[in-house]
Amino acid sequence: MTESDASPQQTGLIPPLLAGRHALVTGGSKGIGRSTVETFAAAGATVSYCARSPESLEMVQEATRDLPGETLAYTADFSDVAEADRFYDEASARSGSPDILVHNVGLSVARNFVRMTNEDWEALFRLNLGSSLQLTRRAFPDMKRRGWGRIVMVSSATAKFPIGHLVDYSASKAAMVSVAKGLARDWAKYGILVNSVLPGLIMTPAWDEAAERLAGSGIRGETVPEVLESFSGEVPIPRFGHPDEIAKVILFLCSEWASYVNGVALDVDGGWSGHLF
Ligand SMILES: NC(=O)c1ccc[n+]([C@@H]2O[C@H](COP(=O)([O-])OP(=O)(O)OC[C@H]3O[C@@H](n4cnc5c(N)ncnc54)[C@H](OP(=O)(O)O)[C@@H]3O)[C@@H](O)[C@H]2O)c1
Repeated sequence: MTESDASPQQTGLIPPLLAGRHALVTGGSKGIGRSTVETFAAAGATVSYCARSPESLEMVQEATRDLPGETLAYTADFSDVAEADRFYDEASARSGSPDILVHNVGLSVARNFVRMTNEDWEALFRLNLGSSLQLTRRAFPDMKRRGWGRIVMVSSATAKFPIGHLVDYSASKAAMVSVAKGLARDWAKYGILVNSVLPGLIMTPAWDEAAERLAGSGIRGETVPEVLESFSGEVPIPRFGHPDEIAKVILFLCSEWASYVNGVALDVDGGWSGHLF
């Protein structure tokens, strides 16, 4: 690995912007969530994070062992919203109620709208939105009492630029932006700022699986490299983003540096989406 390949966490470039804060990060064992956990720990936070697989949670524990903050892993499956309550209760009992929420867990399934059932739609909304709503409800009273809170929705570029074979996913991500905007208007008076980040094409394990599936179907090229190149060729910065490039924006939004940023839906997509607002 060269100096330029090293992540900011590894090179010690992250200032202690979150020292003394407790953050909850959902879906924190891979991709954008994992990078957020590592970046927050590098910035001095106590980070409680969750996912389904204990093996991948353990890998994050290993990777964050020497960082200034503390990381605490929990297993949870947010296809059942009751798991959000369990995660909140366990993390709060151990580390106090959270100052920061990063709602990152999310699933996209390419499928035909006509063949999609109402049950498919509801299950995807439950996973992509359910834990965000429940954890936010739970955290609000203590954030209000303390007069400080930061909430970030990890939405998607598809919130503003919906895609035909991902209508359920795009709608769920637009709903996250709408919830964030509404709460941002109401809760800023309590010192609670709520924002959304809209990633474009970010190279994570989710893309490994998607590229394999598409290569098999031949729609975007025959091989995985051909599929990935056909996507990255659409981005003005002609490559996939790195999870770090989302995590650093989330860190900014959760820090004092973003003290006058509230209710935004921030594109972090290399210029891919091309819309004005
Ligand atoms: N990558 C992109 O290009 C992109 C673009 C726009 C938006 N986003 C959004 O960014 C977020 C993260 O995406 P990613 O690409 O980093 O995903 P990823 O690599 O697939 O990671 C997803 C994380 O969520 C966990 N997870 C999945 N299902 C879960 C469940 N039912 N309950 C609890 N945890 C669960 C996974 O661990 P387990 O599997 O062990 O549970 C993993 O830690 C998502 O909301 C996604 O929609 C991503």
